[in-house]
Amino acid sequence: MRRSAMAVFAVFFAVFAGSALAQEAGVTSAPSDKDLALYRTGINPADTDVDAGEEFFNKTQGEKNTSCAACHGGAAPSKSLKGSAVMFPKWSGSAKKVVSIEDQINMCLGMMGAEKLEMKSPLMNGASLYVRSLSLGMNINVKTDGDAKETFDFGRKVFATRRGARNLSCANCHEDLVGTTLRMQPLKKIGAAAAHWPAYRMMSGQTTSLQQRFVQCMSNARLKPFPLGDYRMTALELYVTSLANGQPLATPGWVR
Ligand code: HEC
Ligand code: HEC
Repeated sequence: MRRSAMAVFAVFFAVFAGSALAQEAGVTSAPSDKDLALYRTGINPADTDVDAGEEFFNKTQGEKNTSCAACHGGAAPSKSLKGSAVMFPKWSGSAKKVVSIEDQINMCLGMMGAEKLEMKSPLMNGASLYVRSLSLGMNINVKTDGDAKETFDFGRKVFATRRGARNLSCANCHEDLVGTTLRMQPLKKIGAAAAHWPAYRMMSGQTTSLQQRFVQCMSNARLKPFPLGDYRMTALELYVTSLANGQPLATPGWVR
C-alpha cells in the first residue's frame, strides 16, 4: 500500500527535480526540505493523522460516556469495521440517504451524545483515515444500484454539468481533454484516484479528503465550490469512488 503512494510521490519528485518545469506548471511551491526529508525516511506525514484518528477512536467521550471502540472494537465480525470503509459512500437505512464515512462518523458521534466533528477538521480526516486503515488493501466496492442508484446517477450528472465563469464541468478536464495539458498540468482520467484519498498534498502541506480535493478543483476552475458534506458532494464522491471499484484501498495517499 505504502509503496503505491510512494510511487505517486516518486513521479512527482522526478517531475519537480527541474524547478523550471515546476514554474511552467504554474506550481508556486516546490516540496519543502521537511517534506523531502520525510520522503527519504518513507514516512507519510498523514500517518500522524491516522494515529490521531486511532486515539480518537479509543477515547471515551460524550454524554453516554463511551468510545467508538466500545461498540466497534470487539472481535465479533458484527462489530468490527474491517471491510467497512470500501463500501462508502453507501446507503444508510437509518439516515435514508447515501452517506460518506465522515457522515457516518458524525452519526455515531450523535448516538454517543458527543460533539460532532467539522468536515474540514484535521481530526475528521484522521478519524476517517483510521476507519479506512482497517480495510487497507481490500478492494473498493461501492454500490451504484438499488437504493444508491439515484444518488449515483445524480453524481454522474453533477460530474458532467458545466458551470461557473468558464462554463466547465469535471468531465471536460477529466474525460474530454484527457491527454492535453492545462497550464502545463497534464489532464488525467480520474481512474482509481479515490482509492488513495484522504491524501497528504505536497502543495498545501495538508492532509486532504476527497471532497476537499473536489473543492480545490472547483476553485481552480472557477466553479463555485459546494460545501463539504453537501448532497452534491456526496453524490460526486459516490460517482468518483465507483471509478475505483475493484482497486485496493491505499490510504493515506501522498500526492502533488
Ligand atoms: C453505541 C454503539 C456505537 C458507538 C459508540 C459507535 N458506533 Fe459506529 N455504528 C453503530 C451502529 C449500530 C452502526 C450501524 C448503523 C446503521 O446501520 O445505521 C454503526 C456504523 C458505523 C460504521 C459503518 C459500518 C458499516 O459497515 O456500515 C462506521 C464506519 C462507524 N460506525 C464508525 C464509528 C466511529 C468512528 C465511532 C466513534 C466516533 C462509532 N462508530 C461509534 C454503533 C456505534
Ligand atoms: C480545469 C480543469 C479541471 C476541472 C474543471 C476539474 N479538475 Fe480535477 N484536476 C485537474 C488537475 C489539473 C488535477 C491534478 C492532476 C494531477 O494530480 O496530476 C486534478 C485532480 C483531481 C483529482 C485528484 C486525482 C488524483 O489522481 O488523485 C480529483 C479526484 C479531481 N481532480 C476531481 C475533480 C472533480 C470532481 C471535478 C469537478 C467538480 C474536477 N476535478 C474538475 C483539473 C481539473
